[in-house]
Amino acid sequence: MKADVVVVGGGVIGCAVARHAARGGLHVVVVERATPGMEASHAAAGMLSPLAEAEAPGPFLDLLLRARAMYPAFAAALAEETGIDVGYGDAGTLYLALREEDEVELEHRFAWQSAAGLAVERLGADAVRTLEPAVSPATRWALRFPGDHQADNRALGRALWGAAARAGVDFRLGADAVALLREGDRAAGVLLAGGERMEAGAVVLAGGSWAGRMEGLPRPLPVEPVHGQILALESIPPLFRHVIDSPRCYLVPRSEGRVLAGATVEHLGFRKAVTPRGLLGLLAGAVEIAPSLADAAVVETWAGLRPGTPDGFPVLGPDPHVAGLHYATGHFRNGILLAPLTGEVVGEALLGRGVDGAVAEFGVGRFG
Ligand code: GLY
Repeated sequence: MKADVVVVGGGVIGCAVARHAARGGLHVVVVERATPGMEASHAAAGMLSPLAEAEAPGPFLDLLLRARAMYPAFAAALAEETGIDVGYGDAGTLYLALREEDEVELEHRFAWQSAAGLAVERLGADAVRTLEPAVSPATRWALRFPGDHQADNRALGRALWGAAARAGVDFRLGADAVALLREGDRAAGVLLAGGERMEAGAVVLAGGSWAGRMEGLPRPLPVEPVHGQILALESIPPLFRHVIDSPRCYLVPRSEGRVLAGATVEHLGFRKAVTPRGLLGLLAGAVEIAPSLADAAVVETWAGLRPGTPDGFPVLGPDPHVAGLHYATGHFRNGILLAPLTGEVVGEALLGRGVDGAVAEFGVGRFG
């Protein structure tokens, strides 16, 4: 049976779009070449951090803030739909100046964020260590972003998969969409490796770093993998409540008694290696933030591929020339944060309810 929508990619973005469209009454099929939620969605650290990630006020920050505001209701809805707790934590984020040169970066952030009326506080060293006694005595001062929160991205991947399935989405797992099918200037489905034609009224490209690799796209889609290494340290009893960021490393405390230390940023193509150089940098950064972590057990290391774009912003919304072709990719460092927003705006467009003005800046047409 011809589907209304084929979503290519079963990460948090693809599943969020599929869930939204299916809840609106569409028949949606997700084509996932392996297992849903096991690429960038699984590798992430789950920081919901507009103030730590955005470099300036503007449409991108607005998008991140809007997504962040959706999170409490999104997490509650997923718990209701699936019984899965996605670990939404609202303790906030501390951004530390540990070295003299870090102060320039923090001063710059504090200046533009406070001028923009954002929730950012400046804390002296004593106040930081009162909030988080495990941070280094070298801490000079910090910014506190009380609204920058976190979620457990692995739980989120399972919850979105489950919620989409419960909404009636069909999953074709282990299936590789290799080409876009078109009828004139309309998307008509995808061709699977092996030759099967999967016809659909609309196609959503949500394949993360792989989204641009399909044949038959109307234009080059400049999404490239940006390699990130990350590791988990045992932290029982928990060392922190806040997410702790610094210019060299971030630490994310998790309820299961681990703290994640991330992440490298490298351009290695599709190679997903964990390297000594990467681990050395992360371990040094983690111990610089919290010296007592020097004796913690390293319990997991991994690497993942952020879907990066030339300007660092996502690619959202319909193709300007091929009807029924929609983009939901390029989320780079913010895929977990943007999942509820991308699910809603791309889902609403699929449901024929118009294209949200917030995505106008982020269309594929900007790449010419
Ligand atoms: N959002 C954090 C990272 O991409 O490393």
